[in-house]
Amino acid sequence: MIELFAININQQQSTEEINILKNYISHEKQARIKRFYHYDDLKRSLLAEILVRWQICKKLGISNREIAFETNQYGKPYLKDIKDYHFNVSHSGDWVIMAQHNTPIGVDVEQIKPMEMNIAKRFFSEREYNDLMDKAESQQLSYFFQLWSLKESFIKAIGKGLSMPLDSFSFSINNEGKKITLYPEEIYTNYYFKMYNIDPCYKMALCTNDENAIPDEVSFISINELYKQVISTLLPYECQIISNTK
Ligand code: COA
Ligand code: MG
Repeated sequence: MIELFAININQQQSTEEINILKNYISHEKQARIKRFYHYDDLKRSLLAEILVRWQICKKLGISNREIAFETNQYGKPYLKDIKDYHFNVSHSGDWVIMAQHNTPIGVDVEQIKPMEMNIAKRFFSEREYNDLMDKAESQQLSYFFQLWSLKESFIKAIGKGLSMPLDSFSFSINNEGKKITLYPEEIYTNYYFKMYNIDPCYKMALCTNDENAIPDEVSFISINELYKQVISTLLPYECQIISNTK
């Protein structure tokens, strides 16, 4: 079964604990998050990485220091030399989400924000734009962000990011998000999607090739719980495992 996790970053949290968590990521990533101007960007990025590291150590039985990330040419991170473990993260506003499975997956969470609908003309296909315009005005923003998160989850599952023309494929969403169709259907025969309501102000989508592994629910983890799990089960990045050679 695909596992889905969500963390709300907007929780009472001591900066002390956030600082401690920084010790569990690589020096390179520490340097990258240090450059964030907004503290929330740092928190989103740090908590996403910590969540992934905790799950990888737990799932694969390896130590934190042994985790070797690589990225494909479009920026999708994956685990070096491990073929049957896949993960993907997304962060927006208050939320950090992560999915993991033994086949490739993509996830996206998007905060619903006021948006000029003519932006859709630039990003969406003609079919999507027309469907959007056919909606009652009060429904358009919600439909816009559903399309957006589905499109992102799809390009993230494939791993090609924005190098894939966003108008080269189309979604239609019916039955309040329960029926999702990807066009051209004859090309994309093996992709399955589900949307999750984690927060009324956000849209979240999952894309997978493994229809039978789609979970009904997302697991919510508090920062406190994550912190406790990490300090009790992971070694800080600096700590190497020294083999006992007498
Ligand atoms: N494929 C899959 N995952 C990728 C990826 C790729 N090519 N490149 C990066 N990621 C992962 C990384 O883990 C990244 O986390 P990090 O920023 O902490 O390193 C995470 O996806 C970011 O996902 P998300 O929070 O959803 O970011 P995003 O929505 O801003 O961007 C991109 C996602 C980078 C893959 C890409 O689609 C993009 O730049 N989108 C911009 C938004 C846009 O124009 N969307 C149009 C939708 S209609
Ligand atoms: Mg996104």
